[in-house]
Amino acid sequence: MLPRPHRTALYIPGSKPRAIDKARGLPVDVILFDLEDAVAPDEKVAARDILASELAQGGFGHSLRIVRINALGSVWGADDAKAVTRMDCDAVLLPKVNGPADIDALTALVPALPVWAMIETPVGVLNAAAIAAHPSVAGFVMGTNDLAKDLGTRKAPRREPMLFALGACLMAARAHGVVAIDGVYNAFKDDAGLSAECEQGRDMGFDGKSIIHPAQVEITNRIFAPTEAEIDMAHRQIAAFEAAQAAGQGVAVVDGRIVENLHIVTAQATLAQAAAIAALETS
Ligand code: COA
Ligand code: MG
Repeated sequence: MLPRPHRTALYIPGSKPRAIDKARGLPVDVILFDLEDAVAPDEKVAARDILASELAQGGFGHSLRIVRINALGSVWGADDAKAVTRMDCDAVLLPKVNGPADIDALTALVPALPVWAMIETPVGVLNAAAIAAHPSVAGFVMGTNDLAKDLGTRKAPRREPMLFALGACLMAARAHGVVAIDGVYNAFKDDAGLSAECEQGRDMGFDGKSIIHPAQVEITNRIFAPTEAEIDMAHRQIAAFEAAQAAGQGVAVVDGRIVENLHIVTAQATLAQAAAIAALETS
């Protein structure tokens, strides 16, 4: 079976049917239908019904449908969680997760759905490994705006003040087989800035990036997909390694660099990812 790509995770305000409808035609791997910060307080209750009805209508193609609820400590959280149990969605996203007990509290209300966790508080970052180890947790979404607020961070080149948190959460996600999605890039008309941040997240190892506007889809999908050069290299590494093995060698050389069996694992993952994306594009 081909792996599921998670290149793009588009936030859509759950209160806006027009924006929700727009997503039906977008090639995004994940949709984060939001009941939390993108929805004004006096629209929160109505947003639950709007979202339930839009999800029931369907039409979201291959996109993984995830509903972000309000924190369980807020006045809306518990009712959001109950509403999600009646929605046609694939997972529930919990904001401001501080530790595994927050996940337990959610699964008591929503026992049947995988949980994705927003890591966006200092305590959440410090407990990332325990959160990722929770058996219900399937994915992490970095909440870098909230984290910057709590840290008192200034915007800096290449997100230097954020790198500890990003790295710690990526480490935790990889240790426990959880999908890792990078935070949003707020300036949605700045393509060069978005590209640079996508490249940085991809280089770190993130599976994809959360985005806030349809204009960010194409760049994000492209940068989180294997490049032509990576695909070509993967083919050549596999061929060279097979030839080396047939000759009784454990190591091959491609373009002056050694290729060992661990590189073949990465090469095969690259080809599987490329095949999964190609299958989506032709379906
Ligand atoms: N998902 C789907 N469609 C979206 C969208 C989104 N996140 N953001 C904008 N669109 C749609 C608009 O509805 C509009 O569609 P239309 O042409 O059919 O009317 C089109 O894309 C162009 O929108 P535009 O006018 O450029 O943007 P805007 O001024 O309407 O909205 C934002 C800008 C930032 C307010 C909006 O993109 C948004 O709400 N993003 C999500 C924010 C969010 O979820 N934050 C929480 C997590 S950080
Ligand atoms: Mg947040």
